[in-house]
Amino acid sequence: MLGGMKVLVIGSGGREHALAWKFSQDRDPPELFCAPGNAGTATFCRNVAIKADDIQGLCEWARTNRPDLVVVGPEVPLCAGIADRLQFLGVAVFGPRQDAARLEGSKIFSKDVMESAGVPTARSCRFRDSRSALDYLKTLPPRVVVKADGLAAGKGVVVAERHAEAEQAIHDMLDGRMFGDAGTEILVEEFLEGEEASILALVDGNRAVLLPASQDHKRVGDGDTGPNTGGMGAYSPAPVVTPALRPLIEEQVFNPMLRELSRRGIRYQGVLYAGLMIGPQGIKVLEFNCRFGDPETQAVLPRLDGDLVPLLQSCVTGTLQAGQVKQRSQACVCVVTTAGGYPGHYAKGTPIDGLAAAARIPGVVVFHAGTELKDGRVVTSGGRVLGVTALGDTLQVAVSRAYEAVTAVRFDGMHYRRDIAARALNRKPA
Ligand code: AMP
Ligand code: GLY
Repeated sequence: MLGGMKVLVIGSGGREHALAWKFSQDRDPPELFCAPGNAGTATFCRNVAIKADDIQGLCEWARTNRPDLVVVGPEVPLCAGIADRLQFLGVAVFGPRQDAARLEGSKIFSKDVMESAGVPTARSCRFRDSRSALDYLKTLPPRVVVKADGLAAGKGVVVAERHAEAEQAIHDMLDGRMFGDAGTEILVEEFLEGEEASILALVDGNRAVLLPASQDHKRVGDGDTGPNTGGMGAYSPAPVVTPALRPLIEEQVFNPMLRELSRRGIRYQGVLYAGLMIGPQGIKVLEFNCRFGDPETQAVLPRLDGDLVPLLQSCVTGTLQAGQVKQRSQACVCVVTTAGGYPGHYAKGTPIDGLAAAARIPGVVVFHAGTELKDGRVVTSGGRVLGVTALGDTLQVAVSRAYEAVTAVRFDGMHYRRDIAARALNRKPA
C-alpha cells in the first residue's frame, strides 16, 4: 500500500521539477517535498529551504521528517556521499553511494573501469605533469580532448581543434590549477566523430533497464555554435539510437560496467547515464554520469507510462524488472529558455510572464529551472530559466507545440535555440 508516502526530491532545476511532476502523476501521488526547489515545484510540492549541497542539513531534515523515498537530482551531493549518509539513517534513497558515484566524480576512475570492463571508449592517457602531457600531445592528430579528472561544474572538458588550444588547456589545468583539486590529474583523449546520444538507465544494484534514448543540445547557439552550456534542449526518442542499437548498448556498455563494478565490490543503484558517441567506429562512451540528465529528464519522463514511486523503489530494493519500464509512443521535446548572456554573465530577478498561457497549450508542461517567487511573482534566478516541454504524436507535432508555448512566455533578455530536434527531423529515413 503506497498511500501516505512522503517523497523528497533534492535539487532546484528543471530535472527536479520534472521528477516531482512525474511523481505527482502517479495513480496514488505521494506527498512531495523539494529541497530547495524552485517557483515551479512550489506550486505542488512543499519546498524545503535547504540547498542540495548541504548534506548535513538534508540528513537532519530526513531524520526528523522520515521520508519514504529520497531522490537525489544533482551529482555534487551524490559524489559527497549523501546516499551513504541517508542509508545509515535508515532512509530509502534513490541514487548511488559515494564509491559508485565516482563514475562521474572521477573521469580517470570511470576510464579505468571502462577499460577493465572492455567497454568501448576513446583512447586516452592520464597525466599529472604538463611536460609529459605536452609530449604525448605531439603524437596525436590536431583535434584532441583534454579533461579534468574531477567535477568542474560541466566546464572541465576542452574539445580542442588545434594543438595550441590543447596546450593551453593542459597548462591551465595542471600548472594554473584552473579547476583546483578537480584538475590535479587530467586525461588527454582522442577526438571521436559521430552523433551524441544520452542513455539513462535505471539500475537496482544488479541489472540496468534502459529508458528511452534522448539527445541534448550543449552549445548555446543554433547549429551547435558558441560556448557549451548545461544543455539548451532535449528530445526523445533520438532516432540515432535505432532499435537494433539498444541491445548492443546493453551488452557492450551497461552489463559489462555493472559486472566490473561488482567485481570491485561496488554496488550501483540509481540512474546510470551514459553519454554516447555513435559514429563510424560504432558505439563509444564519452562519459558516465551518476544521475538523471538535465534537460534529458524533462524529455524522457513524460514518455514513461506507469507510476514513478514504485519504479524507483524497486531500484532501491533490488527488485527492478525490465517490464516495469513502460514507454509511450508519443515524442517529447524540451526547449530551454535562458537568461540573456548565459553561459556568461546574466541578470537575475527578471519577471516572467505568460506561464499560464503556455501551460494551456495541449501537451505542454513548463518545467521551471532557474526561477523563484519574489513578492508573489515568478522571477528568474539562474541561467537556464525554463524547460518548455511538449508531448506530441510525432516529433514534429511535439516541436511545434513546444515552440508555440515558448512564444507565449516572455522575460527580458530571453534566449532559446530555434533548432531543438532539428537533427532528428532532418534525418533521412533509414
Ligand atoms: P563529457 O563531460 O565527457 O561528456 O564531455 C562534454 C562534451 O565534450 C561531450 O558531450 C562531447 O560533446 C564532448 N566530448 C567529450 N569527449 C569527447 C571525445 N573524445 N571526442 C569528441 N567529443 C568529446
Ligand atoms: N545534459 C547533460 C547532463 O546532464 O550532464
